[in-house]
Amino acid sequence: MNDKQNIDWDNLGFNAHNTRSMFIANWNLSDSKWNVKGLVPYGDISLSPASTVLNYGQGIFEGTKAYLSSKERVVFFRLEENAKRFNSSSRRLCIPEIPNDIFIKAVKDTVLDNLDYMPKKDRGSIYIRPLAFGVGPILGVKPSEHYTFLVFVTPVGSYFKSGLNHLKTLVTDKYHRAATKSIGSAKAIGNYSGTLLPFKEITLEGYDEIIFLNASNENIIDEARSANIFILKDKTLKTPSLNGSILPGITRDSVLKISEKIFHLDVREEDITIEDLMNADEVFFTGTAVVVAPVGSICYNDKTVELGRSYTESITKNIRETLIDIQNENIKDPFGWVLPLD
Ligand code: COI
Repeated sequence: MNDKQNIDWDNLGFNAHNTRSMFIANWNLSDSKWNVKGLVPYGDISLSPASTVLNYGQGIFEGTKAYLSSKERVVFFRLEENAKRFNSSSRRLCIPEIPNDIFIKAVKDTVLDNLDYMPKKDRGSIYIRPLAFGVGPILGVKPSEHYTFLVFVTPVGSYFKSGLNHLKTLVTDKYHRAATKSIGSAKAIGNYSGTLLPFKEITLEGYDEIIFLNASNENIIDEARSANIFILKDKTLKTPSLNGSILPGITRDSVLKISEKIFHLDVREEDITIEDLMNADEVFFTGTAVVVAPVGSICYNDKTVELGRSYTESITKNIRETLIDIQNENIKDPFGWVLPLD
């Protein structure tokens, strides 16, 4: 089942590889608690055709990473925040909350059992995907009475094929990512399916990433398909405020704190107009998967702006490298964000 020998360890990209094991817990209305099954061999799962995840998208996920640090140990980054966000997504999707200790143990156990999938230093990390979804058969649009919590892991490298080359982006006014008062601020599976067609269309036109406008106010930007967005103008760094449709990214929050405390930028969470975006000195995406990814050009309404500043001279580079240095324990972690595996 596992495909370790087929993995191209020097060019990992962002793909799901078969690993050794995954962690499972189940919840039933009859006892109303999570029953831990623990590690099982990695592989397919069976589902009722009438499960609420298949029929109504009652499912959530998280994304976090384990790193092989400079101290020759495996570490996590702000894992408690993932546990918290998982439960806030659960509440929005009517999925029973999972106690933080079960969440953290599940992540640690799965990583520990699959440690031989950790890429060599500087080649990548282990990406961790916790999921929770309704498995009970229900035909009406109602929450399930049975749930599965599952954690799987896979080795990953760079999310964007182009690596650190400046991304070619398009702002769409044809599609929205999420409605402002809907589930955009939760890590709900349904928020991602709606971006598949827009993304397919823009890649056919040669773009790397799509930027969505806010569904309630098309003068301001929201985020990308799989990441939050930041703009830098002079010494001011801005990202859209958490207005309902924005995912409260953990990398987003870390970048805000690093930029303020270490780089002394004027950091703001507020509306960003299309005009602000098109006139920025630097633009970048943030997320666990994308880390900090620099944007090179932005097209909106057939007008393209090229962001002039080279990556090597950018503040984006300084922010990205500081974040990675903290995650890899290359520098002292001033925020207490790093958590060792044992
Ligand atoms: C992550 O950054 O970990 C995410 O969950 C985004 C994902 C859709 C690639």
